[in-house]
Amino acid sequence: MILLSLPRTAALAAALAPRAGLREGEAVVGRFPNGELHARIQTPVAGEECVLLGAVAPPDENLLATLLVAHTLLTEGARRVTALLPYLGYARHDKREPGKSLGTAWLGRLLHASGAEEVVTVDVHSRRVHDLFPLPVESLSPAAVFAAEIERDGLTDISVVAPDEGAVERCEAVRTAAGIPRPLARLRKTRTERGVVHTALHGAVGPRAVIVDDILDTGGTLVSACEALGRAGVRDIRIMVTHGLFTGAAWQRLWSLGVSRIYCTDTTPPPPAGDAISVLSVAPLLAAHLKAPRARGAP
Ligand code: R5P
Repeated sequence: MILLSLPRTAALAAALAPRAGLREGEAVVGRFPNGELHARIQTPVAGEECVLLGAVAPPDENLLATLLVAHTLLTEGARRVTALLPYLGYARHDKREPGKSLGTAWLGRLLHASGAEEVVTVDVHSRRVHDLFPLPVESLSPAAVFAAEIERDGLTDISVVAPDEGAVERCEAVRTAAGIPRPLARLRKTRTERGVVHTALHGAVGPRAVIVDDILDTGGTLVSACEALGRAGVRDIRIMVTHGLFTGAAWQRLWSLGVSRIYCTDTTPPPPAGDAISVLSVAPLLAAHLKAPRARGAP
């Protein structure tokens, strides 16, 4: 199998290739003088199974480059193209509303039309992607990655808190993997004109809590969740998010709300330097999946 990457994903590819036993190929993406993208595959791929470590964050240029390289692999004769998109952008854009775009379905069509036969991602936002994509999507759970950190930091007495119903399953997975005996606590989230507001906490929490979520984007959800935990007497909060987008500056309010550390993974571009943010690599998780027989098309 040959692993190809984009400039944005080159570091993760370098960590992944030796672990997964993949050969790294070279794809170069550039622009014509008028701004249109072009791609060149520098490694022979005819008849080969290819894994393209693409990106959808930041979205526009990376997404187009991913699609163009996937299509070029196909036209160069690759036997099979797997789109490895550790952060599946557009996956929150998944509700049908009259007159409005359905970004998840659109992305699925684009990937399929560009030659991808399968998508592998980490902690996809919701299961709705399986109905909206015209190709199989395998979403890998990062629970073990976070659980290892909880154990390493001696936090097994911590309360795990779900910021909304959608996060319950991923929170339970982390709690179980880390062997945390306290039952999960849940916050109830509502969207108002002022944004996300957490109105009720179900379940008991101790003085230390960890909120587990899939995405930290603007941080609005987590700011509101931390305010609610502060009202419940929690004094030390850790945040574990799979995809740290860190958009804008509002998320920095977290530091004044009892948050002592944010853990995210390297599925997205590196977070701002200098803060108490730990970046955990998903390379071992991706490698284990790619090495498994089913990833090679075996029965
Ligand atoms: C919502 O359902 C997601 O799981 C995240 O909680 C949310 O999208 C994060 O966005 P933000 O950081 O902008 O609140």
